[in-house]
Amino acid sequence: MTKPLLEVRDLVVRYGSRGLFRGQPRPAVSGVSLSLAPGQTLGVVGESGSGKSSLLRAILRLVPSESGKVVLDGQDWLALSPRELRRARQDIGVVAQNPFLSLSPRMTIAEILAEPLLARQGLARRGLQDRAAELLSRCGLPADFLPRRARELSGGQAQRVAIARALALDPKLLVLDEPTSALDISVQAQILNFLSDLKAESGLSMLFVTHNLKVVAHISDHLVVMRNGEVLEQGTTAELMSAPRHDYTHRLFGFGMRARQTAV
Ligand SMILES: Nc1ncnc2c1ncn2[C@@H]1O[C@H](COP(=O)(O)OP(=O)(O)OP(=O)(O)O)[C@@H](O)[C@H]1O
Ligand SMILES: [Mg+2]
Repeated sequence: MTKPLLEVRDLVVRYGSRGLFRGQPRPAVSGVSLSLAPGQTLGVVGESGSGKSSLLRAILRLVPSESGKVVLDGQDWLALSPRELRRARQDIGVVAQNPFLSLSPRMTIAEILAEPLLARQGLARRGLQDRAAELLSRCGLPADFLPRRARELSGGQAQRVAIARALALDPKLLVLDEPTSALDISVQAQILNFLSDLKAESGLSMLFVTHNLKVVAHISDHLVVMRNGEVLEQGTTAELMSAPRHDYTHRLFGFGMRARQTAV
């Protein structure tokens, strides 16, 4: 078996374990384990408040983990020093839900795309414009978007820029938290198709979080279903789609309750 790119074992995240709200009874993430193979997409699905974003934040080390282990590309991720982490984080591209919040309104698209490239030490300023244009074109936008600003774009175009920025440093892993939820339905499908193509042509590994199983089903190889901070069930997308063990999973597919489903 190939070595996983990302492995999470028994991860626990508990907010407010220090300070005023000390002693919160239930962790937001409660002993989650999952594994993502290189070149594959893992969909993490669950209702609102099930702990999906907390899991991502803990993996990105934006919030501390109480216990557990994260291994990314062979590195003991939670043990990295802040300095090692700054370097290693460049291997993860992050796409957030709302591109208008995640992209600076004051910067041009060229500046937004140049920022991560400039941040990487040793990268020459020469060729920045070409690299930015190349990233945009990979994300389906022409180079004449470079002088524009995010607020002048449609939601779908802005999300493509956010994805282009996340790809700027050729990450090993792309992490997406509800990347289509803020978009119109028709645009959602375009972005999902684009991500599917990206995966097929570049072999990118993705961790894709959403509350809508239908959204991730056609792009994910494996699915992890979360409820109350725990993994309720996981398996290949085909397995979970054909035979979900829980009605909860069934409902996330938007199928309705099983009893009603069989009655139709
Ligand atoms: N910064 C925080 N401080 C305290 N509690 C938090 C914080 N962020 C999230 N929580 C709590 O942790 C639990 C999990 O929240 P989380 O945001 O991870 O869920 P989610 O699955 O991403 O939900 P959604 O689909 O609505 O984005 C919830 O009970 C939430 O109230
Ligand atoms: Mg969330």
